[in-house]
Amino acid sequence: MTKRDLRIETACVHSGREPDPTTGAVVPPLYLSTTYERDAEGGWARGFKYTRYTNPTRVSLEECLTTLEGGAGACAFSSGMAAAHAVFQLLKPGDRVVVSADAYHGVHRLLDETMQQWGLVVEYADFSDDSALTRALQQPARVVWAETPSNPLLKLCDLAAVAAHAHRAGALAVCDNTFATPVLQRPFESGFDVVMHSSTKYFGGHSDVLGGALIVREDGETLERLRALQASAGAVPAPFDCYQILRGLATLPLRVRAQSANALALAEWLAGQARVSRVHGTA
Ligand SMILES: Cc1ncc(COP(=O)(O)O)c(C=O)c1O
Repeated sequence: MTKRDLRIETACVHSGREPDPTTGAVVPPLYLSTTYERDAEGGWARGFKYTRYTNPTRVSLEECLTTLEGGAGACAFSSGMAAAHAVFQLLKPGDRVVVSADAYHGVHRLLDETMQQWGLVVEYADFSDDSALTRALQQPARVVWAETPSNPLLKLCDLAAVAAHAHRAGALAVCDNTFATPVLQRPFESGFDVVMHSSTKYFGGHSDVLGGALIVREDGETLERLRALQASAGAVPAPFDCYQILRGLATLPLRVRAQSANALALAEWLAGQARVSRVHGTA
């Protein structure tokens, strides 16, 4: 059985966590050390050198996220916005990005206030309208940024159609999957190349940790460049934050299902109220 065959409930509890070989602890220890011992030859054969480059607790979290989204690898960041920033840092001045008009406002702000000054050409489009998306992607683009359901209006788009349009325009298809989580939606299965998360939300699950992540579908240049950016730009999460997020993930499917049931009950109740004109997120 491969990691991809694990049920999500099992993957959430076990993926990225092997019993500690020294003590048998079933919960991996929290590795706070920033530096790691060289071996006799002067190298770092055990794989860890300096914690900004890589850290055992972060590796556990990244392995778990890779399994949950069904990708080839993941990079954890200190916030969702740091993860989003890393995607745009892959680009050069003059590169064009097409972004869901309804994406999280912080992503718009990053693009409008910072990345446009760096020379990125940014266009917003309504991803729920196929003709608007077709128009926006008639010219080449380097990144197409989707968010579905979106924050806060819970607008939806057709992931397979967005990925196909993105690839025709020569772009990397990136999906902010924060709201759906891999329990409800796995964008790689619809052709997306990169999945982004604000781990601050459902992954952490307890409003006590900030984090972000990028999961990449295939091994290759994008994953390598993101890992290099993670190490060189340094917007990495602290080991304790990784530990907290990994702990939160253990109960992710249970929480997402309970939250979905509560939200539906609330939306149905609100939809029946005379003084409520519109409930977002219901059919
Ligand atoms: C959908 C979505 N994407 C990205 C972000 C940014 O994440 P963070 O606050 O972890 O930087 C948020 C935060 O609310 C969000 O809701």
